[in-house]
Amino acid sequence: MHIPVLLQEVLALLDPKENQHVIDCTAGEGGHALAILEKTAPKGKVLAIDWDTESIAKLKKKIASVPQAKNRVVFVNDSYASLANIVEKEKFGPVHGILLDLGFSSFHLDESARGFAFRKEEPLDMRYNPHNPMTAAKLLNYQSRGDLEWIFKKYGEERYARRIVEEIVTTRAKTPIEKTTQLVEIIERSTPATYRKQRLHAATRVFQALRIAVNNELENLEAVLPQARDILEPGGRLAVISFHSLEDRIVKHFFKNDLILTPQTKRPVMATQEEVDSNPKSRSAKLRVAIKTANAT
Ligand SMILES: C[S@@+](CC[C@H](N)C(=O)[O-])C[C@H]1O[C@@H](n2cnc3c(N)ncnc32)[C@H](O)[C@@H]1O
Repeated sequence: MHIPVLLQEVLALLDPKENQHVIDCTAGEGGHALAILEKTAPKGKVLAIDWDTESIAKLKKKIASVPQAKNRVVFVNDSYASLANIVEKEKFGPVHGILLDLGFSSFHLDESARGFAFRKEEPLDMRYNPHNPMTAAKLLNYQSRGDLEWIFKKYGEERYARRIVEEIVTTRAKTPIEKTTQLVEIIERSTPATYRKQRLHAATRVFQALRIAVNNELENLEAVLPQARDILEPGGRLAVISFHSLEDRIVKHFFKNDLILTPQTKRPVMATQEEVDSNPKSRSAKLRVAIKTANAT
């Protein structure tokens, strides 16, 4: 099961109140959404968006079994990059809070069988949404050397990007790269032994880079932030949990430079040691929250 990260901190800073309407742009397994529904009872609604078709179907089932929540959720299977259209189509509002909890969930790692986890043998898919035409395998087998190197450097900050790409190009000339295990072997063959002894697994950065590229994660984040700001009621709050510096940088700059948002968190809020001990994924989580100026129109 996915354990929602920074849950108490999100509730304190997003501050959902009785009967308010909130958008969860990354509803996943519903941990944050259910806690928000508790705070906004009895009449507050949640617009629960997830790009992953399987995740949203599972969430629908889960929420159907929660009597206090089941009639107060609108489910949408779409990308938050289309937030304005979704809100308009669903006629959802007025909106007092918007949450983005970025990246993938435990479902993706443990159950989806789409190659998010480098410790298992799975097809290199990595899509959140099956309608997305790009897969990790397509990227690896058809992108140019230069593009792959750029992806690994930019989205993975991978220092051995060039060596790994050389090995990918040599391998794919002989046999297509389809499985996570093939990619892990390529990375292990092309990086020094010392790199493989570090705390972070040698494949972590390349897998992160591929996931970001396949799903256009940074472009989607850049697209949603101004839409979220426009959708919020004056006084409404926008909370974003990011998991790596590329995402956090985008959020930080947007909050800092936007004239009608006031950041509530000078520094990002991070998990306590207690949370990190019970949920290691929270180690890299950073929460930033901003309030839309009360007199903004
Ligand atoms: C970290 S999980 C959210 C977990 C959730 N807060 C919970 O408590 O269970 C992130 C979710 O965002 C979804 N996601 C990723 N990119 C998305 C996008 N562009 N639009 C909508 N959902 C997206 C993923 O499918 C995943 O379920």
